[in-house]
Amino acid sequence: MIDLALEEKLDDLDPLRHLRQDSELGEDHADRLIPTQPPSILGQTIELTFPRTIHTGGHDLFDEITIELAVDASPGCGGVAWPAGEVLSRYIARRGSLEGSTVLELGSGTGLVGLVAGKLGADVWITDQAPLLPIMQRNVAMNGLSSGVQVAEFSWGSPLPRNIPLPSVILAADCVYFEPAFPLLVQTLVELIPRSDSSCNRAGWEEPEVLFCYKKRRKGDKRFFTLLKKEFTWAEVTDDPGRETYAREAISLLRLTRKH
Ligand SMILES: C[S@@+](CC[C@H](N)C(=O)[O-])C[C@H]1O[C@@H](n2cnc3c(N)ncnc32)[C@H](O)[C@@H]1O
Repeated sequence: MIDLALEEKLDDLDPLRHLRQDSELGEDHADRLIPTQPPSILGQTIELTFPRTIHTGGHDLFDEITIELAVDASPGCGGVAWPAGEVLSRYIARRGSLEGSTVLELGSGTGLVGLVAGKLGADVWITDQAPLLPIMQRNVAMNGLSSGVQVAEFSWGSPLPRNIPLPSVILAADCVYFEPAFPLLVQTLVELIPRSDSSCNRAGWEEPEVLFCYKKRRKGDKRFFTLLKKEFTWAEVTDDPGRETYAREAISLLRLTRKH
């Protein structure tokens, strides 16, 4: 039996240990679930491309969104691109446009997913803890998105900064990995999406779409979903042609809905 107290203690000592170990998922997955990355990624720039579908009246056209991404592990694990972030980026790119949407990304890391949303024409806030803000700012500038993508500090469990408007779309990728943060992330989702009968609801407010891309790394992750289940229901997105491929890597893309 897993000793939960011991697990928690080890998490406190080394919060990233589960990002390096996949042993709980079986040997078949070893080396595949965690993207192969050099032990230290410092000051590199990578280029990532996502196919975009442009929906026209009659037929669909296709092009690509290219993101130049500064990656650097020194400010924390978010300074590199994570697999669920790439899956979520690919999914939203297929929509072709997010014009008219106000997007809030939680735990943005490098900002990858939010940058793709910015390229799709949304008004975007990419958020994370203070050490990640410089790399996010660099990536916004490098992709010429300064007019559409704002960078803000937002730690889960804190009040949403006043300058960030209520979003119509909330994006989160690879944010389930550090047990002490599980209740904080759920609290943030709860605060961003009040129940429909709540007095916090403003007239005309519509529940945002919440796209939550998650990569299973260890059994303890289910404690996040136990907390989430008290307040939300969820369903896997079914209209993603990449689904079978990423499901094999233990990645799921979920749409969350607040329980009413
Ligand atoms: C594994 S990284 C994923 C980064 C990015 N979403 C991606 O897919 O590439 C998790 C991110 O969550 C952020 N994070 C962790 N705890 C947080 C908290 N309490 N408040 C805000 N962000 C947090 C980390 O700083 C990190 O950038």
